[in-house]
Amino acid sequence: MEICRTKAAIRDLIADWRSASDAPVVLVPTMGFLHEGHLSLMRLARARAGAEGRVVASIFVNPTQFGPGEDFDSYPRDEARDFDLLLGEGVDAVFAPAPGEVYDPQAQTIVETRELAKTLIGKLRPGHFRGVATIVTKLFNIIRPDTAVFGEKDYQQLAVIRTMARDLDMGIEIIGGPIQREADGLAMSSRNVRLTPEDRACASVLARALDQAEEMAPTGVTAARLRSHVRATLDAEPRARVQSVDIRDAVSLATISGPLTRPAVILLAVSFGSVFLIDNRVVHPESEAP
Ligand code: PAJ
Repeated sequence: MEICRTKAAIRDLIADWRSASDAPVVLVPTMGFLHEGHLSLMRLARARAGAEGRVVASIFVNPTQFGPGEDFDSYPRDEARDFDLLLGEGVDAVFAPAPGEVYDPQAQTIVETRELAKTLIGKLRPGHFRGVATIVTKLFNIIRPDTAVFGEKDYQQLAVIRTMARDLDMGIEIIGGPIQREADGLAMSSRNVRLTPEDRACASVLARALDQAEEMAPTGVTAARLRSHVRATLDAEPRARVQSVDIRDAVSLATISGPLTRPAVILLAVSFGSVFLIDNRVVHPESEAP
């Protein structure tokens, strides 16, 4: 496994691969502190690349997607362990640039998915999706993969990336991978290690609320009723500070009124102490054709 610290090094490596083979190059962008959720994406990437293709992971804690007062400085990092895990998954190369390598201090250009960046998590974290769209565009331009893989755990992020790739004719296939969970249902996240033991024990309430919603969805329930049920389940956990509960069209992320008629996504953002957790579930109304 090659470890590239500079844009020039990863570009040279990929140019060598491209000159030797037409097989696909598949990218999995991450901010490191890898867990089974990330590793499941490496396996999807390998399946897409095939034995002949190449899988590249990137590890970069991107400062521009963190707001002032957010957890950029305390975001967990363990590069040596990450490299071991990636090696174990048969990843061909890791792009792990030093912070100064990525952004030119004179940079003038950003990428923004206008309305999509302002809604939902974008309201709680202004500027977050501009930072994500800009770094992912840079990674796409540096690595020029055929395919890139992202997790459904960050549902709105996946929508932002699909939209920007389409709108800007990036010509890169975007694949989504399913949410990987702990035994009690908590969605895996690099931030979970920062939960206190008490908060960790209660954090499974997100998955529980989503399980209940999934059961209710085919009963003809309205979006508003479903939302208040989910909200009540979360509010019953005193350690949880509910930031937002949204029910949106699973494809367009448009708001829904009245009974569910199409697949909907339930999007949760909940804080425990200073730890911000998100989770989501796509649910299906009964009326949908099987
Ligand atoms: P990070 O939070 O490290 O996540 C990297 C990728 O792993 C994302 O596509 C995310 O959706 C996916 N992922 C995280 N937890 C997961 C889980 N439990 N199951 C399945 N997939 C999971 O998302 C980012 O980094 C950054 O915003 C990035 C896209 C790298 C841009 O900086």
